[in-house]
Amino acid sequence: MTKKQKISVAKGDGIGAEIMDAVLQIFDAAQVPLEYEFIEMGKEIYLQGHSSGMTEKAKESVESNGILFKGPMETPKGKGVKSINVTARKTWSTFANRRHFRSLVGVDTVFSKAGIPIDLTIVRENIEGTYGGIEHMLTQDVALCRRFITRPGSIQVHKFAFEMARKEGFTKVTCAHKANIMKLTDGLFLETFYEVAKDFPEIEANDIIVDDLAMKLVAKPQQFQVVVLTNLQGDIMSDLCAGLVGGLGFAPSANIGENISIFEAVHGTAPDITGKNIANPTALLLSSFMLLRHLGLMEYAARIENSLLYTLENGAHTGDFGNKETPSLSTTEFANAIISNLGKEPAEGKARVSTLKAEFHLPERPENQKMMVTPRINSIEKIVGVDLFIESDQNANSFASLLKKQETDDIKMIMISNRGTQVWPTGSVFTECVDQYRVRFECINNSETTLSKMLELTEAISKDIFICSVEILRSYNGKKGYSLAQGQ
Ligand code: NAI
Repeated sequence: MTKKQKISVAKGDGIGAEIMDAVLQIFDAAQVPLEYEFIEMGKEIYLQGHSSGMTEKAKESVESNGILFKGPMETPKGKGVKSINVTARKTWSTFANRRHFRSLVGVDTVFSKAGIPIDLTIVRENIEGTYGGIEHMLTQDVALCRRFITRPGSIQVHKFAFEMARKEGFTKVTCAHKANIMKLTDGLFLETFYEVAKDFPEIEANDIIVDDLAMKLVAKPQQFQVVVLTNLQGDIMSDLCAGLVGGLGFAPSANIGENISIFEAVHGTAPDITGKNIANPTALLLSSFMLLRHLGLMEYAARIENSLLYTLENGAHTGDFGNKETPSLSTTEFANAIISNLGKEPAEGKARVSTLKAEFHLPERPENQKMMVTPRINSIEKIVGVDLFIESDQNANSFASLLKKQETDDIKMIMISNRGTQVWPTGSVFTECVDQYRVRFECINNSETTLSKMLELTEAISKDIFICSVEILRSYNGKKGYSLAQGQ
């Protein structure tokens, strides 16, 4: 008898219990060799006063089992708490969010009706970007969200995308980005993509600007195989892809980390249909196939997938899709239909039978948090100035002369910008401003400065003007480590 692997299961909120019960019933019928450790996470746990949305016991369970299979979870609004879903992905470093979208016979879409099959995978960076959740109100009128893109984080997700492509026989990986505008952040994501691509010469690597991707996904989705994106862009594009294959009911998701992985549907708790036994369990079931394959249970995954495909092909459907002229099945009836079809195969597009080996290993508990740093070879880093973010509701010309008094022979006030557009020394009177400016002091004549000098300068200015934030300017091997203002 196969040894049973233990996984942590959190049913979640809203329709979570209904769809999770349906999937686990199918697992039981297919005799999937898994043991479940049920844990509580989500709304109720927040309401009990756990601000992270999970208990210590739940955390221990996931950290020892290495797998969390979860239903959707609700984060109470207006309580100032962070999303449990994002917390789980970030806490356990599930750096790659894999979302697979394919046309399914029985799920009609504009593309299926036109005979265009869709089979594409989005790999979304899952930890960084705007989901860093680092936000500040700089003034009463101005909110700032910091968007971190890191070299090690980008390398991790690109490697995952290429390794997955290699293992699963994809021939092309596309990096989508906005590096034409965000030259440093998305520029770094793109640069590391091509660095990683060098180790996978048999796979075609190309890139596309994300807005162009949005248009092309709608016009000609079949030209993409694997698309790798930063966090927010990946989130938006993957919902677009869900729309291409029939909606959120068909969008599965795997959050893959080195030690811990989380499997869930893309959709939320669907409060409007909770408790009615009408939710579509397909997205969670599709996610479970990724879970089973991750654990090496390839035959179980293929058998249940074939049964699902057969069931869909024969017209069974819940209320959110399918032929409106045939009665829709409840969640339970739909699960039962899949169970009764176990062992059958669809006429078209059978499940792939993977010969791959599982990658899963139980988490090895490190003593400390792992530090990811890329090698620094002959790196020359210099401090070359400071950006001061100041609060003022006056015109830049009215305070520029005051600030200029802090200039020295080597450090000059180079520009003042408002919402990223230069307004001093030159600019347009048509540029509308808000009450927060950025003032840049920068070394001239290739000189460098020190942190303490920049802090002295900051302190001197703070006597006259409120400083909301400070950013030190650095150069790396002679290259500016900061962007120019628009119009500079
Ligand atoms: P939602 O995905 O819950 O619902 C959007 C629409 O899709 C609703 O009309 C819903 O009835 C329908 N829908 C979703 N899943 C379905 C299914 N399996 N079968 C049939 N219809 C389905 O998105 P919404 O309303 O924006 O969010 C509701 C809650 O879910 C919020 O509290 C949100 O924070 C949470 N959420 C949780 C996620 C997670 O746990 N990963 C992801 C997205 C949202």
